[in-house]
Amino acid sequence: MAWPAIIKYATVLLLLLLPPPCAADDRLVPGKPLSPGATIVSDGGSFALGFFSPTNSTPAKLYLGIWYNDIRRRTVVWVANRETPATNSSAGATFSSPPALSLTNSSNNLVLSDSDGRVLWTTDVTGAAPAAGNAAAVLLNTGNLVIRSPDGTALWQSFDHPADTFLPGMKIRIRYETRAGERLVSWKGPDDPSLGSFSFGVDPDTFLQVFLWNATRPIWRSGPWTGYFVAVKYRAITSVIVYLTIVNTQEEIYMTFSLSAGAAYTRHVLTHSGEFQLQTWNSSSSAWTFLWDWTRGAGECSRYSYCGPNGYCDYIELPATCKCLDGFEPASLEDWKGGRFSQGCRRKEALRCGDGFLALPGMKSPDKFVLVQNRTFQECAAECTRNCSCVAYAYANLSTSRTNGDVTRCLVWAGDLIDTEKIGNGDGTDTLYLRIAGFDAGTMRAKSNTLKTVLPAVLISVLLILAAIYLAWFKFKGKLSHWSRHKKLTLDDMSTSDELGERNLAQDFEFLSVRFEDIVTATRNFSEACKIGQGGFGKVYKAMLGGKEVAIKRLSKDSEQGTKEFSNEVILIAKLQHRNLVRLLGCSVEADEKILIYEYLANGSLDATLFDNSRKMLDWPTRFNIIKGVARGLLYLHQDSRLTIIHRDLKAANVLLDADMRPKIADFGMARIFNDNQKDANTHRVVGTYGYMAPEYAMEGVFSIKSDVYSFGVLLLEIVTGIKRSSVSSIIGSPNLIVYAWNMWKEGKTRDLADQSITDACLLDEVSLCSHVGLLCVQENPDDRPLMSSVVFTLENGSTTLPAPNNPGHYGQRSSDLEQIRDRTENSMNSLTLTNIEGR
Ligand SMILES: *[C@@H]1O[C@H](CO)[C@@H](O)[C@H](O)[C@H]1NC(C)=O
Ligand SMILES: *[C@@H]1O[C@H](CO)[C@@H](O)[C@H](O)[C@H]1NC(C)=O
Ligand SMILES: *[C@@H]1O[C@H](CO)[C@@H](O)[C@H](O)[C@H]1NC(C)=O
Ligand SMILES: *[C@@H]1O[C@H](CO)[C@@H](O)[C@H](O)[C@H]1NC(C)=O
Ligand SMILES: *[C@@H]1O[C@H](CO)[C@@H](O)[C@H](O)[C@H]1NC(C)=O
Ligand SMILES: *[C@@H]1O[C@H](CO)[C@@H](O)[C@H](O)[C@H]1NC(C)=O
Ligand SMILES: *[C@@H]1O[C@H](CO)[C@@H](O)[C@H](O)[C@H]1NC(C)=O
Repeated sequence: MAWPAIIKYATVLLLLLLPPPCAADDRLVPGKPLSPGATIVSDGGSFALGFFSPTNSTPAKLYLGIWYNDIRRRTVVWVANRETPATNSSAGATFSSPPALSLTNSSNNLVLSDSDGRVLWTTDVTGAAPAAGNAAAVLLNTGNLVIRSPDGTALWQSFDHPADTFLPGMKIRIRYETRAGERLVSWKGPDDPSLGSFSFGVDPDTFLQVFLWNATRPIWRSGPWTGYFVAVKYRAITSVIVYLTIVNTQEEIYMTFSLSAGAAYTRHVLTHSGEFQLQTWNSSSSAWTFLWDWTRGAGECSRYSYCGPNGYCDYIELPATCKCLDGFEPASLEDWKGGRFSQGCRRKEALRCGDGFLALPGMKSPDKFVLVQNRTFQECAAECTRNCSCVAYAYANLSTSRTNGDVTRCLVWAGDLIDTEKIGNGDGTDTLYLRIAGFDAGTMRAKSNTLKTVLPAVLISVLLILAAIYLAWFKFKGKLSHWSRHKKLTLDDMSTSDELGERNLAQDFEFLSVRFEDIVTATRNFSEACKIGQGGFGKVYKAMLGGKEVAIKRLSKDSEQGTKEFSNEVILIAKLQHRNLVRLLGCSVEADEKILIYEYLANGSLDATLFDNSRKMLDWPTRFNIIKGVARGLLYLHQDSRLTIIHRDLKAANVLLDADMRPKIADFGMARIFNDNQKDANTHRVVGTYGYMAPEYAMEGVFSIKSDVYSFGVLLLEIVTGIKRSSVSSIIGSPNLIVYAWNMWKEGKTRDLADQSITDACLLDEVSLCSHVGLLCVQENPDDRPLMSSVVFTLENGSTTLPAPNNPGHYGQRSSDLEQIRDRTENSMNSLTLTNIEGR
């Protein structure tokens, strides 16, 4: 979308071509009014306050506004007298005594009056009597015009009265008590600053989402917030990072944003045609570059309620299309097929009170919810279960809130579900629990109770869930065709492509492209002091970039597959966003140097913590959360992301822990796209780590998602026992951990597998469940191993109906295998990672 078509308020003002009558200052004081032709320039030179006249206004209209001072294309960010311009009324006459802006010293108000002395606009601050001395109206370098009383308090500020532009530091807010808040209001036309019909602001009914309205009709909705820090946006070509934050205080809730240091001018603007855009100034082309449009993420489909009641917009497929929620069918099949979705969907079967809930992850939750306060997840589920008119619920823990108040967000719905979207897993999305006719409440009960009371899982519900996953899998296959489009993208294409951003509503991620020399500086020329690790394909350093702690991975130059691995990793991670995956922030490619920049995770890798003496900090609940997190991350890679990804090197060293000990899977360099017509693939190059590799992969080079399941099983057993896979010394009489676990299982002693530090009996039930799942994952026959979807389901809900595991697969059963593997290991370049091993 070319920006000139959208914004044309380049304004020409003859008056401004005249030499300014007085020197620019950054403030207005009583007794020195501002007249047309003069400007007030902020200290720092970014913004100017003055009079302007839009291009095509006849008769000429004069407005008081703030614009960027050092941008030649006049870009007005704020207008005072939007509805009351000073006009050049009498034909042929000029402004004999022109309008003026003055600061009264009787009431400390700004007053704009026209030639006849009529007041066109005033700040209208009442109350506090002026303190002794002179107040001043100061234009700050943020673009904020502030009336300061002599003691320095702000009596009024233009940021509290936004026009159509949302600048860094500004707040789009709503006050709890009055339900009142400022909204952005569009201009009426490209050259007409008067109030247009579009507005943008916080939803006064729920406080939990933002809306774009056309008059009173919503035309776009953000979806309820799932956290108080919503999104970080990156963009390679501009290096602008936008940090968008939701702040919740006792009095108000607001949205604000800030920019990375040194970023070019960047602003959100609500255009006269109803788009809410993020734009950044490109000084070399002297134009605003369009970065992102909040409201047009997936075209028409993202418009408010476009898919009708109980329908949803599926973003995961391109082009985005309307679908009916599970349990619903089109109200009129004919309309639906003809692309008319407004009638939406109706239930296939009426709900009964005992019906259970289906979990739909990766959703933008519907509108018209009711917030139930102060609930745990279990209480939230129970709230909806016991009320027969409740059709769905969603839960979030807004734990990053800056206040200590209620941080839970339990939403329940009754009646039709409006404006739902399927976005795909990631921050900013909800898991929507939808009541489905005939769906057994057994699943629900298992959820609403704690894991300690494990109820019999009812077979039919499990089957239904598996069926849903199966269907999702087939839908998913359709997506691979999009991948083939993306696969052709080179790195250069990627950074200029808007395609990535357009596909991802909740997080418009973009790369940060950093110059190699900046990385050299940041890592002090890759000094050992900054080194924090060594991965399969290179060393990892900790550094500060753009005021942020990051982990920098420098790929080894002598790695033959470096380039391929690199682009693989970059392209893959660019598309994958999940709370249990390490986030790639950017990259740097120069000559033969290839650098990846990741988020820095405070607690380092799991193996360091788990196998270290300090592992006392890993209590069982933390371990269990790590297991579940890794399982969810892997499920995402296998089934829920837009691609099927096999990690191929899952191990404790590749699981990183953030400050809250939440796990994130790292190092996708070896991940590989799994073609849809293959169940498993034969690779000529075995990569991975001895001990975690599934036997069929290590021995024969055959990999599938089931090889990852095997690695997950090994990791799970390590976390439960605190014993390294390869560690023999600590286990008397077993060649390795898997044999040890298997023997304990056969003897019915799985509880004894628990690390010594875990003694609580209730927790031991969870330990037992995890060991069982672990053994199912490491079974010798790949077909016997469960899918990650079943693993996640079992870990989340518990089960008493798990099958008994068969023989585990491990090498070392035959001594020749072991030698073969050892030979390979010694030949590899890096003792941690097996590379260059010829498969069969
Ligand atoms: C006022 O209007 C007249 C006639 O339309 C025009 O010649 C003159 O330039 C206008 N003055 C300003 C300040 O725009
Ligand atoms: C207003 O300010 C001017 C200039 O500082 C001063 O001369 C005048 O006395 C002030 N008037 C009042 C009412 O304070
Ligand atoms: C806004 O509403 C007006 C009046 O109902 C309508 O004509 C116009 O098409 C709407 N615009 C958008 C973008 O929805
Ligand atoms: C800025 O404009 C120049 C010249 O038109 C163009 O080459 C460059 O890609 C633009 N940069 C961005 C960030 O759009
Ligand atoms: C939340 O609920 C708990 C128990 O139900 C209660 O003790 C607590 O006071 C409640 N907190 C608030 C803020 O309502
Ligand atoms: C929300 O999360 C925080 C930190 O993860 C946790 O301490 C708190 O207990 C959680 N609250 C609820 C109600 O789940
Ligand atoms: C059940 O939910 C409906 C809709 O949210 C609500 O009006 C009603 O009060 C609820 N009933 C009970 C008993 O909570």
